[in-house]
Amino acid sequence: MVRFLRPLSLLLALLPAIAGAGEAPVAPPRDARIEAEIAALLARMTLEEKVGQMYMGGWSPDFDLSEVTSSSIGALSGPPDAPTIASIAATARRTRLGIPLLFTQDMIHGYRTLFPMPLGLAASFDPRVIAAAAEGTAREAAAQGMHLALGPMVDLSRDPRWGRVVEGPGEDVFLSRLFAEATVRGLAKGGLAATLKHFVGYGAAEAGREYAATWIPDVQLRDVYLPAFHAGLSAGAPMVMAAFNALNGIPVTANRFALTTLLKGEWGFDGFVVSDWDSVSELKAHGLAATDSDAVALAVNAGLDVEMAGRLFPRLLPDLVRAGRVPMARIDDAVTRVLRVKHRLGLFDATRPAIDPAAATAALATPATREIAREVARRSVVLLKNDADRLPLVAPPPRIAVIGAAAADAGDHMGAWGAAGRREDVPLLLDQLRDRLAGRSEVTFSAPCDDACRSTDGFDAAVATAAASDLVIAVLGEPWWMTAEATSRTRLGLPNHQEELLTRLAATGKPIVLVVIAGRPMVLTETLPKVAAILWTFSPGTMGGAALADLLLGEASPSARLPMSLPRAVGQVPISYDQLPSGRPTGPDLLTSRYLDEEASPLFPFGYGLTYTRFAHRDLRVVADRLRLADTLAVAVTVANVGSRPGREIVQLYVHDLVASRSRPLRQLAALAIVDLAPGESREVTLSVPVADLAFHDDAGRRIVEPGVFRVFVGGSSDATLSADVTVVEGTPSP
Ligand code: BGC
Repeated sequence: MVRFLRPLSLLLALLPAIAGAGEAPVAPPRDARIEAEIAALLARMTLEEKVGQMYMGGWSPDFDLSEVTSSSIGALSGPPDAPTIASIAATARRTRLGIPLLFTQDMIHGYRTLFPMPLGLAASFDPRVIAAAAEGTAREAAAQGMHLALGPMVDLSRDPRWGRVVEGPGEDVFLSRLFAEATVRGLAKGGLAATLKHFVGYGAAEAGREYAATWIPDVQLRDVYLPAFHAGLSAGAPMVMAAFNALNGIPVTANRFALTTLLKGEWGFDGFVVSDWDSVSELKAHGLAATDSDAVALAVNAGLDVEMAGRLFPRLLPDLVRAGRVPMARIDDAVTRVLRVKHRLGLFDATRPAIDPAAATAALATPATREIAREVARRSVVLLKNDADRLPLVAPPPRIAVIGAAAADAGDHMGAWGAAGRREDVPLLLDQLRDRLAGRSEVTFSAPCDDACRSTDGFDAAVATAAASDLVIAVLGEPWWMTAEATSRTRLGLPNHQEELLTRLAATGKPIVLVVIAGRPMVLTETLPKVAAILWTFSPGTMGGAALADLLLGEASPSARLPMSLPRAVGQVPISYDQLPSGRPTGPDLLTSRYLDEEASPLFPFGYGLTYTRFAHRDLRVVADRLRLADTLAVAVTVANVGSRPGREIVQLYVHDLVASRSRPLRQLAALAIVDLAPGESREVTLSVPVADLAFHDDAGRRIVEPGVFRVFVGGSSDATLSADVTVVEGTPSP
C-alpha cells in the first residue's frame, strides 16, 4: 500500500501561518525581463489580437480552429485529450505572433482519477490530504498539456440549501484558508496553476437559491468570505474567477469595488480575472446593462480581464475601444496580466517539453494515483453514529443485505464535475463488499428505487431482502446530479421516499448501518433513531467504494470531521458554529435567542466525528498567558486513546475574544493538531496561534488585534469543553 500519509502526529499549528485578509499584498515579485518582453509583444499586437487574449473559449466536438488561427482566443477550456491539446497548441504557435494558448478545465476533485468532492477533502481537516488530492489531479492533467485548473472553489457557505456547498471548504474561515492554500500548493506541485473561484460571496446566496443575490456587510466580507481567497493568492494562484452573483447590488462580473479596488488595488493582485461562464451577457438579465455592448464596457472598465464563453469580447470590444468607451490602457493592462500569467507558467519557455501522447496516457489512473485516491477517500468519511460499536464489521454476520441503488452506481461514487473520470475505473461498494466478505458473509443486494428514490415500487422486495439478513447496509443520500451547481433544495431530508424506506427497513428489526453519499449536510433528525451507525461521505470519488469497504470492514478507521454543521431542521439554516453572542443567550426562558419548536443547536456540530476508538483530552496548559502582538499563543493538552483500537484524533483549538470593540464569535477555529495513537497511548500536543491571527477587521477595513482576554477551548469538536484564558497585553497600534 502506498503510504503517503505517515501515521505520525503532525502539529498543523507548526505550518507557516496562513495569511489573513487585509494585511499583506499577494503579488509575487515581478520579473523585469518578463515585463519587458510583455511590453515589447504588446507593442506589436493589433487591437483584435489583444482582445483575443481576453477571451477564453470552450472546446466542443465542433470546435472551430479558425478561432485559433485568427488569434481570437487566448485560452481554451475543456479540450478532451493530449493529442487534441498538442494539435491546437501547435496551431496557436503558427499564428502571426505565436502566442501560446492557455489550456484549462474544471477539475475541482480530480481529472481522470476522481478524489472525494472538495467538502469531503475539507472533512479530513488535514492539508496533507487536501494537497495530495490536488497534486494527483494536477499530475494527470498536466501530462495531457493542461496548464490551469478552473478551481479550487473556495466559497465559504453556511447554507446547505445551496447545492454548491459540496464544491467548497464548508462553513469555517480557518478551514477555508487551509483548504485554499493546500489546494493551490498541491496543484502547483503536480504541475498545474489554480483559479480561485468564485470571487466573492457566491456562497451567501439569499435563501440558498442558486445564482441569487448576496448582501454582505464589509466587515463580514473581510472577516469571513475573503480570507480563503487571500490565502489562495498568497500561495500563488494566478487567476481569479468572478462570481455569478450580485454582491451588495452589483454583479461581481462588473463590480469595480471587488475586482479593482480590493483585489487588484488593496491586495495588489497582478494575475488576471476571468468571468464565469457567459456571465458578461448576463449583466443584461441582472438589469445592469441594456445591451451587450454596455455589458462589455461595464465589465472591462470594472476590472474584468477575460471573458469565458459568450464571445462578446471578440465581437464587441474592439469597437468599444475605438469609440472611446473602454480605454486602451485598460486593454493593455488586461492583456499584460494574461501574458504575465502565461510567462509565469512557462508557456513561452522554448525548452518546455512537448506533449507526449504516450506519456500522457500512461499518467492516467496509475495504480499509485488510485491508491492515493483510496487513502484520501478513507480520510474524507465522517462516522456520525456508532451505537454499541456496531462498526467496524470485524466479525461480520452470516447474512448482510446491501440496500440502495447508489451501492452499485459508479456515478454516485464519482460525484459531480466528473472531468475526465470514467465509470469503468470505479470499484463499486457492492462488489467490494461481496468480494471481500466472500466465504464469511453472504451479501444480498436490492435496489428498491433509483438513486433518488422517486418510487416505492421496489420497497416490498427490499424489505424482504432485509428481513432475510442479519444486518442491513443501506446506501442512500443524494445522487450525484442532485449535487453541485444549480441544485438548490428547500428540503434537506433524505430525498423523496428514502426516509420511508428506512422506516420500513427498521421495522424488520434488523440493525441498519447507513452509508450516506450526499452533496450537502442534511437533516437527519428523523433518520437517527432508525439506524445503528452512520458513515457520511460527500461523493467519495473513483476509489470511494473501496475506501468505504475498508472503513466498514475495519481495514481503516474513520477520522474525518464535519466541515459544516448538520442542522436539526431546515428552519435553522444558514447555520454555523461561529455565531456572535446574543444579548439574550440561548436558554430555557422565553425571552432568549431560541426557537419555540426546535433546539437552537445543530444535530451534529462543526468539527464533530467519531472514530473506532475514544479519546480523552486533559491537562490543558497555557504556555504563556501574557502575550504581545508578535508572540504566539500556545497551549498544550494531553490526548489519550482510551478505547481499544488505534485511532486518529483531530485536536481542535477555538478562541473567543471576550471583550472587543465589536462582538466577536463565541468560538472560532484557530489551530489543529492531528494525532495518531495506539490503544492506551497518550501524548501531549501543543497547539499554537500567532497573536496576529486573532485579528478582525474594523470599519476602515484594517485588520486589528485588540488587547484583552481571549478564552481558548480545546477538544475534539466545536463543542470542546476544556478551556483556559490568555491575555493579549499589546494589540495593533492605532493608525
Ligand atoms: C461554474 C464555474 C465553472 C464554469 C466553467 C460555471 O457554470 O459556475 O464554476 O468553472 O461553469 O465550466
